[in-house]
Amino acid sequence: MIRPILIFLFSIWLLAACEKTSPSLPDDSELLDGPVEGLSEAETRQFLAGDVAFNDHVFMASTGLGPLFVSTSCGSCHAGDGKGHLSNALTRFGQWDETGNQFLHLGGPQLQHRALPGYSPEQLPPGIPFTKLVPPANTGLGFLELVSDADILAMADPDDADGDGVSGKPNWISLPDYAIPRPDAVSQNGFYIGRFGKKAAVYDLLQQTARAYNQDMGITSTYEPFDTYSGFEIDMEVNNQTVQNVVFYLRTLKAPIPRDTDEPSVAIGKSLFEEIGCAKCHRSTLVTGPSTIGSLANRVFQPYTDLLLHDMGPELDDGYTEGSATTAEWRTPPLWGLGLSKNSQGGQYYLLHDGRVQSIEAAILLHGGEGTQSRAAYQSLNTVQKAQLITFLESL
Ligand code: HEC
Ligand code: HEC
Repeated sequence: MIRPILIFLFSIWLLAACEKTSPSLPDDSELLDGPVEGLSEAETRQFLAGDVAFNDHVFMASTGLGPLFVSTSCGSCHAGDGKGHLSNALTRFGQWDETGNQFLHLGGPQLQHRALPGYSPEQLPPGIPFTKLVPPANTGLGFLELVSDADILAMADPDDADGDGVSGKPNWISLPDYAIPRPDAVSQNGFYIGRFGKKAAVYDLLQQTARAYNQDMGITSTYEPFDTYSGFEIDMEVNNQTVQNVVFYLRTLKAPIPRDTDEPSVAIGKSLFEEIGCAKCHRSTLVTGPSTIGSLANRVFQPYTDLLLHDMGPELDDGYTEGSATTAEWRTPPLWGLGLSKNSQGGQYYLLHDGRVQSIEAAILLHGGEGTQSRAAYQSLNTVQKAQLITFLESL
């Protein structure tokens, strides 16, 4: 009779002792990496394989790096899948109208500012329009990928027919030869709706991944077989299975979990957000369509984006275009995970496409163009209301 009691007491002591010695783990809602709930065993294995390729696989000259590159692994720019730092920014240049990039012969569209020994890194040709982009958080991307083209078009109002000053257009892009149009694809004159990247110029997570290997690390695949330095088609340096594992990993990364949702100021901030027109672009609720991944199929989710392009005025005009996105147009960034972005940015916010501002308020104050009216409405809030709005945004 005594033995079970002793074992019980010993276990309690052990638990208490462990609590003291092991550092407390952050709550799941404080982390961005990790899979969506309910993956099958096989799906979990593929998620983990993609996780290793994304975070742990550091390329070297002997494994295909470069010769020109920006960084050596996906994870080096997307640490913990959170927003990146200014030091991981990418530079794109040489395109200012719809006729395409005029500077491909000078290394465009992306600047590879690092090179293996014996090669010269690229330099920005003088006087050329360019944009700097800080890495976005890689969260909930599988949900965004499954929003139907019809739903995206339903949110668009390219000619501002309702006269509210907010239009919103899809980025009409041409597909790379390896892209398979989605089952619900809408196309116009051979162009399709882009949805990833800060100018929504990327079709899906496969294109984003194959292109990142190629342009960010100089790694070729059967999808993107051309060496960025020589321009020649070369043998693949990353195999299709690995690329697909990374795509699966990105697709099944969980959506950020909101925090402090019971706080009254969060609820008030949320209604202010709707009232002053922020939600016209940062749409709170979208739905996914069918998917072979059960955890992603037919879900309602809260990303705070419409995946559309908006003209943000001269304040945010870099003079650089992509697809049909003009120089001042940017895709509404999802605001989910906003409150956690400091964690991966060195305890400091770096917001907007180029990380130029260090606070949420400063980001709002640079909303020109289609954002002008909601910016003015923000400015007319009183101090308490402004704080409530920010508290809500930080809870996302
Ligand atoms: C040099 C830093 C860097 C490296 C290396 C890098 N990325 Fe990125 N990534 C970025 C930046 C900057 C953007 C934004 C680019 C844009 O918007 O056009 C981005 C965008 C993305 C997006 C789009 C997310 C969205 O919300 O639309 C995905 C997905 C992504 N990267 C995945 C990857 C994968 C997979 C790899 C490795 C194969 C990788 N990245 C390597 C910096 C990097
Ligand atoms: C007309 C559409 C539109 C409206 C209305 C709008 N936004 Fe934005 N918002 C954007 C776009 C587009 C960007 C990206 C601009 C860039 O990166 O240069 C952005 C960026 C942001 C960012 C920075 C996000 C990041 O990750 O860097 C925050 C925060 C933000 N908006 C909050 C708000 C708030 C709060 C309101 C209401 C006062 C609002 N927005 C109204 C379109 C809009």
